[in-house]
Amino acid sequence: MHDRWIAERMRHIEVSGIRKAFDLAASLKDPVNLSIGQPDFPVPAPIKQAAKAAIDADKNGYTVTQGIPELRAKLLAELRRRYPAHSDRDVLITSGTSGGLVLALLCTLNPGDEVVIFDPYFVMYPHFITMAGGVPVTIDTYPEFRIDISKVRAALTSRTKAIIVNSPGNPTGIVCRADTLRALAHLAKERKILLLSDEVYRAFCYDAPFASPAQDNDEVVVFDGFSKAYGMTGWRLGYCHGPRRLIEEMTKLQQFTYVCAPSIVQYAGAVALECDISAIVADYKHKRELIVSALKDHYELAAPGGAFYLFPKAPWGTGTDFVSEAIRNNLLIIPGGTFSKRDTHFRISYAASDSTLERGVEILRRLSKRPA
Ligand SMILES: Cc1ncc(COP(=O)(O)O)c(C=O)c1O
Repeated sequence: MHDRWIAERMRHIEVSGIRKAFDLAASLKDPVNLSIGQPDFPVPAPIKQAAKAAIDADKNGYTVTQGIPELRAKLLAELRRRYPAHSDRDVLITSGTSGGLVLALLCTLNPGDEVVIFDPYFVMYPHFITMAGGVPVTIDTYPEFRIDISKVRAALTSRTKAIIVNSPGNPTGIVCRADTLRALAHLAKERKILLLSDEVYRAFCYDAPFASPAQDNDEVVVFDGFSKAYGMTGWRLGYCHGPRRLIEEMTKLQQFTYVCAPSIVQYAGAVALECDISAIVADYKHKRELIVSALKDHYELAAPGGAFYLFPKAPWGTGTDFVSEAIRNNLLIIPGGTFSKRDTHFRISYAASDSTLERGVEILRRLSKRPA
């Protein structure tokens, strides 16, 4: 085939470091896999049952683009409760949280518009932005991974269209302080910048109640989903809520792209909202404690308050050097350069069984000293 058939934009997209680890895992014998950001618990039984029942009831066709009324009504009731003053807030059911982010950026960015993201960032953000014709502008948050509002102010230009914030965050597990989110919400309002808040790890906050910048700015667009909270990563269900006019534009675009989120999964999602996942969250909090207490004296580590990630500094070499050595020792982790302009750290996902975590800790403690 002809090389010119492949679009220019694809030259800037490399296979994700995470997918490479995923492929490698398939070739290693019994690896200790702490690389994938995917819950290790099964989908709760009532949710599985609801999906099977939806198939058997022949609910397999297209749904309305905005999502089935049963799921929308539950989500809207919850939004009215959380944001009683946001009369203009509407919701769209999307194909995963990522589906919502793609639609929002395609509906808002003009060529050359800048979008501020915080480094380290979720691996997909720069691609979503460039795909939509925008320019990612990164703000470095090392070593504590805290947002410095004065740096954000300094990064804003006449081309800044949006800021993406992600708390609890991937890859660091850091939860933004409520006062930082409030300051960001106010700054965005004052400068008429669209604030996009990716809240897909909202359920996993271990030390303080979850806080959203939408509490302080009624125009914040929020992206949420079922992947992480209910272990439904492969089912592709998310939702987005924000100003009605933007949600309308996104709905229009969804109609001509994804069409709708998977029908049977939407019925399962309505049941998921009734499920109590507090035991799962408590178990993940325990895993966080297990791994942080085992590694904190061996690695430079900003204490993670949520999600299921740790982002320690490589104790020697670059992030890539260190991860290559870990893989030679049968441990799969991700080099920090996958999520950052720096290649100094690495990501651990602790969404794994306790026995896997203990095996991982043993290897990581051994590797904290540079091998001779
Ligand atoms: C920060 C963040 N946002 C969005 C997503 C995508 O989630 P979904 O599976 O709902 O598309 C992920 C998945 O890893 C993530 O870590």
